[in-house]
Amino acid sequence: MDYKKYIASKINVEGVSVEEIASSIALPPNSQMGDYALPCFKFAKALRKSPAVIAQDLAKEISTDDVISEVSAINGYLNFKINKSGLAREVLGRIAQQGEKYGSSDVGAGRTICIDYSSVNIAKPFHIGHLSTTVLGSALYKIFNFLGYNAVGINHLGDYGTQFGKLISAYKHWGNREEVENGGIHAINDLYVRFNNEADEAMEKEAREYFRLIENGDKEANDLFEWFKKLTLEYVQKIYDRLDVHFDSYAGERFYTDKMQPVIDELREKGLLKESNGAQIVDLEPYGMPPCLILRSDGASLYATRDIAAAIYRKKTYDFYKCLYVVAYQQNLHFRQFFKVLELMGKEWAKDLVHVAYGMVSLEDGAMSTRKGKVVWLEDVISKCVEKAYAVINEKNPDLANKAEIAEKVGVGAVIFGALYNNKIKDITFSYDKVLSFEGETSVYVQYTCARASSVLEKAEGYDAALPEELNPTDEEFEVIKTLASFPEIVLDAADKYEPSYIARYSVDLAQKFNKFYFDCKILAAEPGVKDFRLLLTKATLRVLENALGLLGIGVPDKM
Ligand code: ARG
Repeated sequence: MDYKKYIASKINVEGVSVEEIASSIALPPNSQMGDYALPCFKFAKALRKSPAVIAQDLAKEISTDDVISEVSAINGYLNFKINKSGLAREVLGRIAQQGEKYGSSDVGAGRTICIDYSSVNIAKPFHIGHLSTTVLGSALYKIFNFLGYNAVGINHLGDYGTQFGKLISAYKHWGNREEVENGGIHAINDLYVRFNNEADEAMEKEAREYFRLIENGDKEANDLFEWFKKLTLEYVQKIYDRLDVHFDSYAGERFYTDKMQPVIDELREKGLLKESNGAQIVDLEPYGMPPCLILRSDGASLYATRDIAAAIYRKKTYDFYKCLYVVAYQQNLHFRQFFKVLELMGKEWAKDLVHVAYGMVSLEDGAMSTRKGKVVWLEDVISKCVEKAYAVINEKNPDLANKAEIAEKVGVGAVIFGALYNNKIKDITFSYDKVLSFEGETSVYVQYTCARASSVLEKAEGYDAALPEELNPTDEEFEVIKTLASFPEIVLDAADKYEPSYIARYSVDLAQKFNKFYFDCKILAAEPGVKDFRLLLTKATLRVLENALGLLGIGVPDKM
């Protein structure tokens, strides 16, 4: 049962929907006041009464029942106390029954949502700058699937551009097959960097020629390109596996090569194309934006041209309800521009395109900061985090079995959680010590709480899972129960705002409440009936923490 909705259904404010009231209901910081509270400030204007009077009037109208045990008005807040036994029974019963599905729903049934994320560039480094798009997009993918949507993960590969001509030229001059085969993406990147540092005019010319050859379907040039692409994808696949990241489509920029001409024709037909210094543009001045470049003066297409073709293709192929682009805020203008162009083309679905922008990640660790020409590879960040996790685990618990496996879960989890914990638009500074702390707001803290719960359950050697008729939870227990009850709405909110951070924060909140319960209430030493209930509560908490972390792509070890 959705408690907020239930409470909201009993409140009558003229002109305000039950949904709106439900979404305004919050968990008050001090549970002495109530279990749920509705702030009445925002109704003051419409009702032309003070918040305090509104709360008092509403309190008089609401009768208590099996669910709501007390209603009171305090300083403009309408406070509710819930029948604790009923809520505890209901929530624990539901978690036990639904297990790993607890928190899921079918609100998205019949709707497809395309999510464009990670979108690596072939033959270029997969670096720390790709962390957020990869883990944010992947979390959204999991969250939307959990809510019954059909999520389509799209890796819009950066596999188009003159850099491939440069790369082939560099390879022809300085590379050899064996070195590239062994060195993979690093060797390819070295060649590219060398070209940028050393190429003369003749080589630049040659590079343009190679690019033209790729475009014209020349076999040798295309074989080389495909080889670079294969090596890049093999390399990133290993990282995706570690991060539990999946895609349904790798249709990249090159895929749209033959799909751009129809777009250009349509733009022209609709009178949207204009010539400007030999180039073809869509004028966006009336909308306060610089023009959107469609064709360069040499006839070459651009990033935006391919994105317009891609959006049309996705609509046709998937008939999406929404199409998300998880891309850094540096590209804000690009998205605003091509969304506008699609709107001007009369695509009414242009309103369903969403740029999910996020902030920058930089590294605190000076030794690995981005020096000129030196990139921080994401793989190195992950490996370093796993190594550090191993060292910490080894120190805390040297006799643990499977230390390497556990360190992988902890280290990878820390990288993901570190990128997801803050609101996505914030710039973040990644610090190894911070993300690996056992005490901070970290995945390590949450995972450690899970290990603690697992260990209690293991020591208990079974319990009676039947819920007694009457439960009288202590304050600490009830805090945990209420937090467990709120998980489904947290997932909905996270989807609604494209904010996996809500789930990350929730997991820390639940872990903190569980730990308070753990330290204040004896579990294993409690009398039999109480002990069974506490074990059930422990099991439910573990389940929900696993569900929450799972949505972020983070695994939970049994022991730490
Ligand atoms: N490969 C691009 C980059 O690294 C990101 C692509 C994002 N997706 C898109 N449809 N434009 O900047």
